[in-house]
Amino acid sequence: MKIGFFIDGKFEDGEKSYELTNPYNDEVIAEVVEGQTKDMVKAIGSSYEAFKTMKKMPSVDRANILFAAARLLAEKKEEFAKLITAESGKPISASRAEVDRSVQTLQFSGEEAKKIAGEFIPLDAAVGGSGRDAYTIFEPIGVVGAVTPFNFPLNLVVHKVGPAIASGNTIIVKPAEKTPLTALKLAELFTKVGLPDGVLNVIPGDGATLVGAMLEDNRVQKISFTGSPRVGKQIKNKAGLKRMTLELGSNSALYVDESGEDNLDDIVEKAVVGAFSYNGQVCIHTQRIYVHERIADDFLANFIEKTKRLKFGDPMDEDTSVTGMIDKKSQIRVLEWVKEAVDGGAKLLYGGERKDNGILPTILTDVQPTEKVACEEVFGPVVMVNKVANDDEALKLMNDSQFGLNAGVFTNNLKQAFHFAHELEVGQVLINDVPTLRFDNMPYGGIKSSGYGYEGVKYAIKEMTRMKMISIHFK
Ligand code: SIN
Repeated sequence: MKIGFFIDGKFEDGEKSYELTNPYNDEVIAEVVEGQTKDMVKAIGSSYEAFKTMKKMPSVDRANILFAAARLLAEKKEEFAKLITAESGKPISASRAEVDRSVQTLQFSGEEAKKIAGEFIPLDAAVGGSGRDAYTIFEPIGVVGAVTPFNFPLNLVVHKVGPAIASGNTIIVKPAEKTPLTALKLAELFTKVGLPDGVLNVIPGDGATLVGAMLEDNRVQKISFTGSPRVGKQIKNKAGLKRMTLELGSNSALYVDESGEDNLDDIVEKAVVGAFSYNGQVCIHTQRIYVHERIADDFLANFIEKTKRLKFGDPMDEDTSVTGMIDKKSQIRVLEWVKEAVDGGAKLLYGGERKDNGILPTILTDVQPTEKVACEEVFGPVVMVNKVANDDEALKLMNDSQFGLNAGVFTNNLKQAFHFAHELEVGQVLINDVPTLRFDNMPYGGIKSSGYGYEGVKYAIKEMTRMKMISIHFK
């Protein structure tokens, strides 16, 4: 099946196309038309025109479109889940969960559309200001360029599209080359719920070409990018005065302190999910676990036992939880990093082997902080579990990172919880949860090499609007 890019409410054919394969079984699932520079320029023109309508649309209408999209997506849950699994290789249970989250993200977007509000400014508080009333309003900025990754082909698209529509902007999505079908299907869904043509355009294809065209064009006001630090930095360096949101991943850490022995089983259960969901191909994957030495042996024995129960297999099977990697290159890279760590003195406790086109869930211990599996973003099913002598050592190691997105701490000690909450150098601290946790209405953004700017519907809207002050001199 050939599928075109999506401009002005319809699919269009183009000059070039590529074969899209299912990463698990290598079957061809579609021929995707690849946008060229001129196609992106056309999409920008369409979005720019559509903004003239969109910026005048009342918030109640924007909200109703988003609520209707949420309802329709819920009805089509199974279709979308199967498509996500086919193009990303995500286990079907996780794809269903992704659709459920996307429905909520759209609902939150509809709710937030109605709450975009400014404030009253008491100008009579300033010398000479009396006789004036002033207030602020928030206006949409115009055309937003969205660049989205392969790992959440629906929800990370919705996290940019929902807030853009809620705030009266228009948006062009450049989806990951490996997972464009879900974004295209989402654009089609919006045509059925009254979104004006051109408000959402989707152009798959080569990132350098298409994002390059967005960066060159002054009509694009903002780029919202989720992906690697390397590409994020390249985009930022060319963005000039465009606004940016950069969500660039991390090597998220978890600490389990001594009090973890009170509910070790539950903590380990959560840590295994954090370490291996979608094969660790998640920006907030639990990559580094530090455990207090008094309970570390029990933690590890339990962790290995629960990991052994994970079923590796076909992502379409209901009970599969670990499966193939997104591509061969990632499989080779991750295995090389594991080997380097072992050569550097780490102990391999489980996994570390290729299986089909994936990697068995891999547990390492005694990993040096300089090994790539510790200090780079592994984006694979690999976790290190290191012992620490005390809480201070854990905090120091957690913060010894170029990244700063999410971090988790399990503790029953209130003072300890607040201490870590204040001292951890990350955007989000999760006390008594693993770092691999995100609800779609919470602020979500990183510091250091994890990027800057926020997602999470309300916070993304802030970054897609500009404040205007209006003063009325009445006396
Ligand atoms: C991400 O991998 O960037 C997002 C994780 C999530 O939304 O759960």
